[in-house]
Amino acid sequence: METIMTNKTTSSKAIELEDKYGAHNYHPLPVVLERGEGALVWDVEGNQYYDFLAAYSAVNQGHCHPKIVGALLEQAQKLTLTSRAFYNDCLGEYEKFVTNYFGYDKILPMNTGAEGVETALKLARKWAYEKKGIAENEAKIIVCKNNFHGRTITIVSASNDPDARKNFGPYTPGIIAVEYNNAEALKELLKDKTVAAFLIEPIQGEAGVIIPDEGYLKTCYDLCKENNVLFIADEIQSGLGRTGKLLACDHENVHPDILILGKALSGGTYPVSGVLTNNEIMLCIKPGQHGSTYGGNPLACKVAIAALKVLKEEQLSENAERLGKILLKELKQIQEENSQVVKAVRCKGLWAAMVINEKDGKSAWDVCIELMKNGLLAKPTHGDTIRFAPPLVITEEQLMECVAIIKKVVAKF
Ligand SMILES: Cc1ncc(COP(=O)(O)O)c(C=O)c1O
Repeated sequence: METIMTNKTTSSKAIELEDKYGAHNYHPLPVVLERGEGALVWDVEGNQYYDFLAAYSAVNQGHCHPKIVGALLEQAQKLTLTSRAFYNDCLGEYEKFVTNYFGYDKILPMNTGAEGVETALKLARKWAYEKKGIAENEAKIIVCKNNFHGRTITIVSASNDPDARKNFGPYTPGIIAVEYNNAEALKELLKDKTVAAFLIEPIQGEAGVIIPDEGYLKTCYDLCKENNVLFIADEIQSGLGRTGKLLACDHENVHPDILILGKALSGGTYPVSGVLTNNEIMLCIKPGQHGSTYGGNPLACKVAIAALKVLKEEQLSENAERLGKILLKELKQIQEENSQVVKAVRCKGLWAAMVINEKDGKSAWDVCIELMKNGLLAKPTHGDTIRFAPPLVITEEQLMECVAIIKKVVAKF
């Protein structure tokens, strides 16, 4: 019989290579994925799993969505990158589409989430000096404790996570932190007339899917308005259908002064981020003052248009809203039946957290390993909390299969 030669790897070989040649800046689950479709992924040995992380909500539209991949392939054969030294025939079309979609005058296109956050902070500072009249180098940005906005020097300067910060100093000045979900504390800080902006995740993702009290976002927004301070929403993880609305801010009818998007803006096919705002703020930045070689490239533009169309055409926010209610009910029941193992559950749309009572040497990591062995991939965030964030294309039947896996695994602990 003819032997078919392939260069197919095994999980252990792939892990060994990453360990030897790659930086150790992540601690992945020991699973090596090769293929994905919708809510499902397969490892190199052919085992099937539900993806309950969706690349930190970048794959809201499901793995390898044919319309998004189709847009990518079509554009990749025509023109991929011009830089912004020249115009391209896709950027204007995308800018019109995306600004209409979210209700802003303008977008500044970038690539990664962290770049989007940096861009928003630069815009806020520029606006503070040129429009609000704050004295040069005096502008402050208020951030929330336990935030996660990315990994650049300025962003880790805004973090209080020792892992993110330690030995990366000196830090960027002009950043002050306020307790999350405490509007009174924000009110106090806003007495300082040198505050330019308040940067917030409407739901804190990396902190463990922390959902603030109803009315908190609106109160913060109103306080910012009263004090002529920009309200900047980082919806990189919370946005684009994840919480059951297009944006998490929509739950409180808050229209941020500056909106930062990333991740699912490309449905997980390509790094695309963007900052949306109105003319008064955006036009503070003039030619030469900010940019990115890849930002706004033709491929990104076509991919983002396709990804945003899929969200609406397939009613993914609505699916997240409907299935999220089922997921919350089921997780609460799992908690009730296993109160020794599950300390708390939280859920908004298809974004949930299950807090594990870590004792007797058993941890959230162990639960995730067991979930993996049973065909479901999820990761702990901040030690004892497991985040669940399946692609929003998941069906009710698939979701119930996942609930059954979680039930079975939790019961084992
Ligand atoms: C809320 C939030 N902001 C910013 C980022 C950074 O995005 P990126 O990893 O694309 O730089 C993340 C990534 O997880 C995030 O969740």
